[in-house]
Amino acid sequence: MSKLFTPIKIRDVEIKNRLWVSPMCMYSCEGRDGIVGDWHLVHLGARAIGGAGLVMVEASGVKPEGRITPWCAGIWNDEQVKAWKRITDFIRDAGAVSAMQLAHAGRKASVYRAWSGNGSVPISDGGWKTYSSTDEAFTGYEAPRKLSTAEVKELVQDFRSAARRSIEAGFDAIEIHAAHGYLLHQFLSPISNKRDDEYGGSLENRARLLLEIVQAVRAEIGESMPLLVRFSATDYVEGGWDQEQTNQVAKWAHEQGADLFDLSSGGLVTGVKIPSGPGYQVHFSQSAHQATGAPVSAVGQITDAKQAEEIVASGQVDVVMMARQLLRDPYFPLRAAHELGVSVSWPSQYERGTWPSA
Ligand SMILES: Cc1cc2nc3c(=O)[nH]c(=O)nc-3n(C[C@H](O)[C@H](O)[C@H](O)COP(=O)(O)O)c2cc1C
Repeated sequence: MSKLFTPIKIRDVEIKNRLWVSPMCMYSCEGRDGIVGDWHLVHLGARAIGGAGLVMVEASGVKPEGRITPWCAGIWNDEQVKAWKRITDFIRDAGAVSAMQLAHAGRKASVYRAWSGNGSVPISDGGWKTYSSTDEAFTGYEAPRKLSTAEVKELVQDFRSAARRSIEAGFDAIEIHAAHGYLLHQFLSPISNKRDDEYGGSLENRARLLLEIVQAVRAEIGESMPLLVRFSATDYVEGGWDQEQTNQVAKWAHEQGADLFDLSSGGLVTGVKIPSGPGYQVHFSQSAHQATGAPVSAVGQITDAKQAEEIVASGQVDVVMMARQLLRDPYFPLRAAHELGVSVSWPSQYERGTWPSA
């Protein structure tokens, strides 16, 4: 009996297994307008056909200036909603659940995608002036403008509107991206938040923006829809953001309506030593689960069926997310089920692929 292929229900949404697609930026909105297109449909659709229980789409800007690159996806206007709808319909038809990752890159926005250049995109090439909790730059990038208190409050509405649009676009679940050194992480970490208003200083104050967003998004989406939060559990820097603060804020977020915590790490500062290796972030998720009692997912160098099964079956976490392994092999979940001896239904169109003889 496989735990990895046992369904999980979060609020009113039942997900057929615990092997999910981790969000991955494709930097492929070629019109630089945040509108997803054929690339996204084929990329995400293939992973839904491939058997993942939940397909989380890439970090999508809640505002134009919240995109990491000018080619990143958005969820701030109705044209984007229409384009996403085609994709969520496809994912549902293929038997998977779709999730939107709501994001704002803050001081790490307006940079080139790897194959188009390096560092910040100048305004003359379609870039923009970034803003953040601070006016200190992320290494190698242009310095941001520090947001006023009134501007910070407006961000809560931006996330709320993006949540409403995500529902209109047909998503079944929402994740708030508070990891990897992007805007919400910039507010959480004492390294990038030295504000003296109600959004800086104490842990309560640094967490205020995220918690207000969790509350606003929950109010917008109602009681039936799952709400996830992705944290970086640590900055890997003494005196920075760490597991203890993550656990406390996750606890508060759980009280405000967040259902599942997705634990990653790093991204706020460069040049730190990250002790990576197979499943190297699982212990962050375990710790958050112990602190909150909420379901958690693990991500990071999980590449193998038996490894994924063991992580979930041992009760360490509830769900495994995969990114790069699913780039290498979009059908990995179907293959993993076979390897674990689990019978799962294939898309009808692919059934003949399960027949033993030619
Ligand atoms: C191409 C690519 C794009 C990514 N984009 C995002 C993103 O949009 N949001 C996010 O939270 N993480 C993003 N990540 C991180 C992954 O979701 C994942 O946490 C990380 O790659 C570790 O998992 P893995 O070892 O299975 O690849 C990205 C990773 C890759 C490889």
